[in-house]
Amino acid sequence: MKVRIAPSILSADFGRLADEIKMCEEGGADVIHLDVMDGRFVPNITFGEKVIASARKATSLPLDVHMMVEEPENYFASFAGAGATGMTIHVEAAPHLQRQLARIRELGCLAGAAVNPATSLGAIREVTADLDLVLIMTVNPGFGGQEFIPASIDKSSRARQVLDEARSRASLEVDGGIGRDTIEKVWRAGADTFVAGNAVFSAADPKSEIEALRRICLETV
Ligand code: DX5
Ligand code: ZN
Repeated sequence: MKVRIAPSILSADFGRLADEIKMCEEGGADVIHLDVMDGRFVPNITFGEKVIASARKATSLPLDVHMMVEEPENYFASFAGAGATGMTIHVEAAPHLQRQLARIRELGCLAGAAVNPATSLGAIREVTADLDLVLIMTVNPGFGGQEFIPASIDKSSRARQVLDEARSRASLEVDGGIGRDTIEKVWRAGADTFVAGNAVFSAADPKSEIEALRRICLETV
């Protein structure tokens, strides 16, 4: 299975955003993860369309937008127009999940569904055909730099099972507290896409940290 490392710009220096993104690209990042927060679904506010458009200018890597917002459908068209290549919505904020995922695909983007730590995988199981990515939150969303929740390891294996049983080729992504100490456990559990904010941007050498994280997985076969 391919390892995909997705640095989250939440921990980047926004005054030097283009350089930070280029640095991730040079370091071998597979995807750039953009955390949109609305101050309602989560108790924090980050950015929207404008920053996605700036990120689009800075790199040709895929831009995966993690939407921690209520009524995410209000932003689908503008985020796709700004250059998002994927949009991941939270099942907790998506009463019409199947329709919302279908809409993301109609806009030419990859469709993802995220589950908070306390949310069961039930909704994911019902929409496997509509999914290009499943995001298992390994912290409660809202902030970077939080501690990984150990129960996420078992949940990641169960999510892998759900995808395998449905013969789905969707990516299985984990997000929150991923770093040198935790990545191996979720990789073994079946995750293939790893969001890393703090681990990359607070490293002494952020560029080589991306490769270091990937190597930990590849050396654990
Ligand atoms: C948390 C965000 C994460 C965050 C991860 O709500 O969804 O993407 O940036 O940050 P770290 O890797 O620092 O836990
Ligand atoms: Zn995220």
